[in-house]
Amino acid sequence: MSPNITRLQGRTALVTGSTGGLGVAIAKALADQGAFVVVSGRNKERGDAVVAEIRSAGGQAEFVAADLGAGGDEVQHLAQQATAAAGGHIDILVNNAGVWGMPEPTGEVSEQALLESYQTNVIAPFLLTGALAPGMAERGHGAVVNVGSITGLIGGDRSALYSSTKAAVHSLTKSWAVEYGPSGVRVNAVAPGPIATERALEAADHVAPVLARIPSRRMSTPEEVAAAVTFLAGDDAGNIHGVILSVDGGWAAA
Ligand SMILES: NC(=O)c1ccc[n+]([C@@H]2O[C@H](COP(=O)([O-])OP(=O)(O)OC[C@H]3O[C@@H](n4cnc5c(N)ncnc54)[C@H](OP(=O)(O)O)[C@@H]3O)[C@@H](O)[C@H]2O)c1
Repeated sequence: MSPNITRLQGRTALVTGSTGGLGVAIAKALADQGAFVVVSGRNKERGDAVVAEIRSAGGQAEFVAADLGAGGDEVQHLAQQATAAAGGHIDILVNNAGVWGMPEPTGEVSEQALLESYQTNVIAPFLLTGALAPGMAERGHGAVVNVGSITGLIGGDRSALYSSTKAAVHSLTKSWAVEYGPSGVRVNAVAPGPIATERALEAADHVAPVLARIPSRRMSTPEEVAAAVTFLAGDDAGNIHGVILSVDGGWAAA
């Protein structure tokens, strides 16, 4: 498919966690709209493969490795390396990388799991946004799109850890919209329900009862969620600030 080079032509984007799952679809969708995309994650081999796929479709991309669970220095390093790879500035930041797993009773969640989840899902996007949004504000334009979750909006059985990290992501989205909006930087989030990624499909037994409660009775495709992210990142969403856009087949409404 040849890229649709109009909407995001000339923009640069960093997509965390774009070596697998949803992030790959987001990186490809942004590149397809003409953005130069910095693909990131821990796994260089998978990252290079995503870059190659984008380039073979006519898009532009580079890979920058980062472990967002490794602390603040690594996050700052990613911000610097991604900015350099993108030619000096990042216009669009998609905070997508996240740790999620099978439901677990609260009493069985280890302190280590708490720290790891909060580091990757909350602290890393917090620091990355703090590193990149001020530059966007200085230039007078930019967009941050956070990947939250429907479980951050509604309660989930044995999902307290993951759900609470995503509720924090939604809260940060609103505070950043207020903080950066006056400088021309829009901050929004998507709140997906189950997405048919490779990992989620492996957990199909767990997801089946959930699907029975969802009005659409199905998972979203990664491309459907990526389309919502791309919309929020682009000028068609030019006066949309601080929304949490559910892409959940109607789960939150049921
Ligand atoms: N799948 C769903 O049903 C669903 C539903 C709602 C929300 N979400 C959210 O959507 C986002 C993507 O989820 P997914 O299902 O696509 O997950 P996934 O298939 O597990 O992929 C996660 C991505 O994040 C990266 N990542 C994980 N830990 C990292 C770390 N410490 N440092 C840097 N990168 C890291 C992984 O890359 P490396 O392995 O290369 O590091 C991979 O590219 C997450 O925020 C998740 O919470 C997912």
